Amino acid sequence: MSKEKILEAYEDLAEDYNALIDHKPHNAYYDRPNTLRLIPVIKGKHILDAACGPGKYAEILLGQGAMVTGFDISPKMIALANERNNGRGEFYVHDLSQPMITLKDESFDTVVCALAMHYLEDWNPTLREFARVLKPNGSLVLSIEHPFFEYEYFKSKKYFEVEAVAATWSGFGKDVIVHSYRRPLMECILPITRNGFYIDQLIEPKPEPEFEKYDKKHFKELNAFPSFMHIRAVKR
Ligand SMILES: C[S@@+](CC[C@H](N)C(=O)[O-])C[C@H]1O[C@@H](n2cnc3c(N)ncnc32)[C@H](O)[C@@H]1O
Repeated sequence: MSKEKILEAYEDLAEDYNALIDHKPHNAYYDRPNTLRLIPVIKGKHILDAACGPGKYAEILLGQGAMVTGFDISPKMIALANERNNGRGEFYVHDLSQPMITLKDESFDTVVCALAMHYLEDWNPTLREFARVLKPNGSLVLSIEHPFFEYEYFKSKKYFEVEAVAATWSGFGKDVIVHSYRRPLMECILPITRNGFYIDQLIEPKPEPEFEKYDKKHFKELNAFPSFMHIRAVKR
């Protein structure tokens, strides 16, 4: 049920998301720099952008000489990713929770999945697929909502459970209810290490200085407590 609601929310958000993504502070000056700094090498590498949204990551990676394949559950996001990248890269509609049957074993150097794992109730099948399509020693780079931030934000009383939650987003020009799953830290780490990876790097980020120009309130808050967490895991 949640999956249909998540898709509906992103179909509704897609155009505004695409219009704002270049400079939206949480994305441009908080998530992206920290995620990108975990990708070991970009030039000449095959990178899978899982849940690519409107293709902003792909645009940056293609610009730095990578070959990019991206997918997303939202057809509107995929149309925008194609438009933004002008025929460069390959983008298709696909659900992260389903087997990535069109992708060959050991065909990617890096898989990036930014700000999307919290739309999945069970991370295990997706991580097994990421491990399958990565080359040996390939990297999985994830950005996720920080589990301690989510626990507070959703006023949870059940830390140890994976809970269906919903938030009203108003930062993309209209109010949209976005459903997701919050989980304890253990449920972020163990699915990674149990499905063929070791964790090599973890960042609890602070915003880049440019963030402050766009949003002083969140700049101050994010310097005191993290909203996101960035993980690099390496295929064993
Ligand atoms: C917060 S956006 C992030 C987009 C992009 N990774 C970025 O950081 O610019 C989350 C994206 O996840 C996608 N998404 C949500 N659930 C998904 C699923 N089950 N399979 C594939 N994509 C999904 C949404 O459509 C949306 O484009």
